[in-house]
Amino acid sequence: MAEIHPVLKNRQSRRHFNGVPPEPEKIEAMLEAFRWAPSSNNRQPWRIIVVRSPEAHKRFDACLSETNLQWATAAPVKMIILGHPEEQPERNGQQRYLLDLGLAIENLLIQGCALGLTAHAMAGWDEEKALANFHVPKPFRVGALFAVGYPGTLDGLHPEVVKKEQAPPARKSPDEIFFWDDFGQKGKA
Ligand SMILES: Cc1cc2nc3c(=O)[nH]c(=O)nc-3n(C[C@H](O)[C@H](O)[C@H](O)COP(=O)(O)O)c2cc1C
Repeated sequence: MAEIHPVLKNRQSRRHFNGVPPEPEKIEAMLEAFRWAPSSNNRQPWRIIVVRSPEAHKRFDACLSETNLQWATAAPVKMIILGHPEEQPERNGQQRYLLDLGLAIENLLIQGCALGLTAHAMAGWDEEKALANFHVPKPFRVGALFAVGYPGTLDGLHPEVVKKEQAPPARKSPDEIFFWDDFGQKGKA
């Protein structure tokens, strides 16, 4: 298997935090990485809300799915990634702003990992609540919620969360997803 950049290889979405708040300059670096993501026609159809105060943490936690409530409330910093569907027009019936958001999210993840943090994207939340709780105007949509912090240990975690954390990292095999010259055709570089 080819070697890849260590920050890509080492990045993991952890579900535990050591309680130490990330330094403001590290949060700023993650935001800057988010801001510099590529987007179609450079339209940058993204916004981000950083959740810091105890009161805003409560509004954030109220949006989480049951399974994310098992671990994400402990994160010292939380983020809400927003997308503007009209700042990036649809093409081929596809909502392309979501692709742009995905790239900005990956920048955020990778920069966080490079600084020793874990940044964990979440799809399990209630969008209506997130929009209302953070006074987000229309037509913005929520793309993802994030839990950010320094990784901790498995001590005291919900047993279901421990099980997820102990599962070995897994990916589809190259043969399942890499094709050469035609769809489905196996090969090698
Ligand atoms: C868009 C997105 C949404 C996700 N939603 C959740 C979630 O709601 N809850 C959760 O525990 N993990 C969530 N994850 C984390 C994935 O489960 C994780 O990325 C995947 O298992 C691969 O593990 P790794 O990130 O440690 O490589 C999400 C990841 C992404 C990229």
